[in-house]
Amino acid sequence: MYPQIFSAAKEVDQAFLIILGFSVFILVAVTVAMLWFLWRYNYKRNPKAADITGNFWAEVVWTVLPTIIVLGLFWTGWTSFKAMRTIPDGAMLVQVEGRMWSWKFTYENGKTSSELFAPVDTPIKLALSSRDVIHSFYIPAMRVKWDLVPGMDTDAWIQSDTVGEFDIFCAEYCGLKHADMITKLKVMTNDDFQQWLEGTPEEEGGESRGLALMEEFGCFDCHTMDGTDDIAPPLNGIAGKERLIILPDGTKRTIKADANYLKTSIMDPGAELVDGFDDEMPPYEGDLSDEDADVVVNYLLGKDETGKPLTFPIHPGGQLAKVEGCFKCHSIDGSSGNGPSFKGLYGSTITVRKAGKEKTVTADEDYILESITQSSKWIADGYANSMPNYDDLSEESVESLLSYIKSLGGEK
Ligand code: CUA
Repeated sequence: MYPQIFSAAKEVDQAFLIILGFSVFILVAVTVAMLWFLWRYNYKRNPKAADITGNFWAEVVWTVLPTIIVLGLFWTGWTSFKAMRTIPDGAMLVQVEGRMWSWKFTYENGKTSSELFAPVDTPIKLALSSRDVIHSFYIPAMRVKWDLVPGMDTDAWIQSDTVGEFDIFCAEYCGLKHADMITKLKVMTNDDFQQWLEGTPEEEGGESRGLALMEEFGCFDCHTMDGTDDIAPPLNGIAGKERLIILPDGTKRTIKADANYLKTSIMDPGAELVDGFDDEMPPYEGDLSDEDADVVVNYLLGKDETGKPLTFPIHPGGQLAKVEGCFKCHSIDGSSGNGPSFKGLYGSTITVRKAGKEKTVTADEDYILESITQSSKWIADGYANSMPNYDDLSEESVESLLSYIKSLGGEK
């Protein structure tokens, strides 16, 4: 069975095994009895059918026995349900919001995140809500699966006895990108959690707050940053671009993507829809504060939170690398992580290995393309084979990453 990290879930596993075991027993017993009856009472052996008109004890047995069995099975299910539903007093509260197609977690101090961070051995109450359609919040390792119904507030609780990363899924079909509605539960020690909770986004990686907000609000689930059309228009270089939009009354108009337009398209996307796209995006009015919306708009216009131009170019490939999680292992300042730094990588000479073989290569375009899409083929000397193959990226995305890595490359 899937690893299990929640003490209350032990009862669920127990109920599952008891019911499964009993069902298998009944299946075997009924099948064996049926075969025996076929053999014993076939026409050749037993040409004359018996005419039984009533048997008091047989009736008592087949009424009482199944009743006891069913009540027993109900009892095992009921006790496990009760353990999962009895939320301990004083549990830490986390708001969970599902939306097409990402998750948002809000902690007691107002901090938000797109992954669920939790301290170990601490009961956590999850207040569940949906802002659009029905989703289902599912942590297999916790045996917790609870529907999020729009307009209905529900709750659940979890507690992990293990530090580590666990999957969170959406378990209710909720539209085109339902399968992408995946995130992580990150269980940390109490000290690490407190540090994370009190930390500011800047301390967590120094990224732009605009980009952080866009990730948190799931913008990149539908919008690319490398110019490719997803189910929504790409957002890189959008500032000042001409857009053919459709107004709610059906008239078309060409406008320039300025701050006003961008803000409207975040807060009330249906009001000025870009021609050729469906009205799929939820309005962020009320979800995203006015101030945060301005931060996102500024970011798209190449400005920082205060409205000053960013001091570094926003390379779409760099943003993609961020979205794809490359920076979790690759630095851009020359320091070594789980993987080689992007800085100075392009054009450098490196030693690579596979299964005992070794060769020296120049990190040219072909090499970098291969190490993105088939990363486990050749491993850079001194690193573990831990990078997944990014073979599901579009050609444009890979090109965009390549052009970003090239921009950080050496002199050649
Ligand atoms: Cu949300 Cu499926």
